[in-house]
Amino acid sequence: MTSWFQAEGQVDAFSPVIQEASSLLRKGELVAFPTETVYGLGADARNTAAVEQIFTAKGRPSDNPLIVHIAESGQLDGLVSECPEPIRKLLSAFWPGPLTVVLPVRPGAVSPRVTAGLPTVGVRMPAHPVALALLRAADCPVAAPSANRSGRPSPTRAEHVREDLGGRIAGIVDGGPTGVGLESTVVELAGGRLHVLRPGGITAAQLRETLPEIPVEAAGQPAGGEAPKAPGMKYAHYAPRGRMTLAVGSDPGQVCAAIQAQLDEARRRGERTGVLAFAEHAGWYDADCIAVCGSLGDLTTAARGLYDALRRLDEGGATWILAETCPEEGLGAAIMNRLRKAAAGRILAV
Ligand code: TXA
Ligand code: MG
Repeated sequence: MTSWFQAEGQVDAFSPVIQEASSLLRKGELVAFPTETVYGLGADARNTAAVEQIFTAKGRPSDNPLIVHIAESGQLDGLVSECPEPIRKLLSAFWPGPLTVVLPVRPGAVSPRVTAGLPTVGVRMPAHPVALALLRAADCPVAAPSANRSGRPSPTRAEHVREDLGGRIAGIVDGGPTGVGLESTVVELAGGRLHVLRPGGITAAQLRETLPEIPVEAAGQPAGGEAPKAPGMKYAHYAPRGRMTLAVGSDPGQVCAAIQAQLDEARRRGERTGVLAFAEHAGWYDADCIAVCGSLGDLTTAARGLYDALRRLDEGGATWILAETCPEEGLGAAIMNRLRKAAAGRILAV
């Protein structure tokens, strides 16, 4: 049985729903909660048995480390053995917010299952009143990956969590739809450079603006030496159930025509067709299922709606999916990173 805690509207650490949910966490149970990025599946990061349940509930490979969530900057020093000045600058600019920093872990501060045996730990302070209230009430560092079954799109609504994990976890705190819609940006300072291990809610341009003196290496860029990697980046992620291909080209009219030709052919073969489109072009398509993620003119809406759109393609039963793409600037870098994974790298060049 999974308890449902309704926490929309104003809550703080003393609200009864938050008290109940946090007492489950303190007892070593799993509780899903909203953050400004996606819903997280929380466990007491110091409790190995609790952390192990995260991997079981999600079906997640155990060599993929978890992000530790905190409510106060003061908790950071208890978790890490050092925090260089440039990282402190980032924290004062972007915390609370969608930025995870990877730092040397303080021995014994969290279960080794959290770090997957690495000498480092990823830490973030979420900018969501419900998450902060829960973390304060739990009064412990909380390990929390996205609250989806491994390989499914990350949850941006409490209902998504119930679809994937209902019956497998102790509680779900419903704080309404999340804001950013994509996971946090994960960064690590190494060799005098800031490496973006996973693009996310904070853009490379924002990082560069805050740290003008430090080179910022975008995810996947060669770093002139051994580049640190987020272990999670190697897994196929965020996949809809149907086979998805990204249509890439500079002329929107030609891209739409190429997508429609593929859809028509797939339909003749008996596939159930789906399109993932931006609002500006959605009316151009004839398909069994058309999912709009958001507007090309405002990529914050596309980031917010992307995972929900992928889930709607599943609900629509689409087996053959073509997706539009966006320029890889600003939030577009994170959107395209997730789209490429959802499509397992399949590209239709137009
Ligand atoms: O927005 C988010 O970050 C969400 C919400 C719930 O806070 N959480 C999330 O966690 O996306 P998860 O576990 O799904 O993603 C963790 C990412 C993975 O790519 C993992 O490999 C990387 O962070 N990571 C965690 N610890 C790391 C470490 N010590 N070194 C390198 N990468 C690390
Ligand atoms: Mg995830």
